[in-house]
Amino acid sequence: MAAQIIDGKAFSARIRDKVATHVARLKDEHGITPGLAVVLVGEDPASQVYVRNKGKQTVEAGMNSIEHKLAADTSEETLLALVDKLNNDEQVHGILVQLPLPKHLDEDLVINSIDPAKDVDGFHISNVGLLGTGQKSMVPCTPLGCLMMLRDHHGNLSGLDAVVIGRSNIVGKPMAQLLLGDSCTVTIAHSRTKDLPDVVRRADIVVAAVGRPEMVPGDWIKPGATVIDVGINRIEAPEKGEGKSRLVGDCHFESCAEVAGAITPVPGGVGPMTIACLLANTVTACCRANGLAEPDGLTA
Ligand code: GUN
Repeated sequence: MAAQIIDGKAFSARIRDKVATHVARLKDEHGITPGLAVVLVGEDPASQVYVRNKGKQTVEAGMNSIEHKLAADTSEETLLALVDKLNNDEQVHGILVQLPLPKHLDEDLVINSIDPAKDVDGFHISNVGLLGTGQKSMVPCTPLGCLMMLRDHHGNLSGLDAVVIGRSNIVGKPMAQLLLGDSCTVTIAHSRTKDLPDVVRRADIVVAAVGRPEMVPGDWIKPGATVIDVGINRIEAPEKGEGKSRLVGDCHFESCAEVAGAITPVPGGVGPMTIACLLANTVTACCRANGLAEPDGLTA
């Protein structure tokens, strides 16, 4: 195996330490404790795990965690009233409405009802527009985490060829904007892209975010390229015993690691960075709300 492994677990621990240090300073010097409100509607098991982890890590960083768990049949009116209350609560600096929402709720309407200054997911249409025009915004957590790892590995990304595979609003599109902001030449590839292997082979940076297990093989990777694997897919693993499963990324790890210069593993790569960046965004939002200097290295 040739590639350097980019350790997202260790990197995210450093980000969380930085967040905790800044939170301690906000408390000591200004008497302010950043607060993150997370809203969960319904009982989706994966969402429950995410929300629990978010709450735990928020408290570990010294911040206030406010959790609202609503029944699956909650009306849109009730949910919008809660968001409005959180928008107007000075103790709340960040608001996250866990997705997906139950089908009867309009996700776009709910997300766009969040105060953009508290939108720590960076999903509000105002933040999307600000990011797209290179202005100060709240940046979606997973692409922000990928950018931090890329900057840490390369130093300067200027002039590099980057291919983002996947065009989702949550990862692919904002990732492309961030790479463009760092002066990469960016291609967004997707399911209709012609000759995907050739497109990927041109890239110095490959960000895979499609949700298809091991779809990128090593022979698509340019020697020495950096591979950021956003995919988290659970597949059957009969070799571990009957009914067992394991997590894999969107890239075939072993073959990509033979060719790449650096690669993020799954698990332990991009995954842990997402919550770390959520905490970072909450501190950033708190500093902006109070007219205080933002911590270095925690924003795009
Ligand atoms: N569901 C899965 N990932 C996310 C995320 O990053 N933010 C929100 N709000 N919901 C999610």
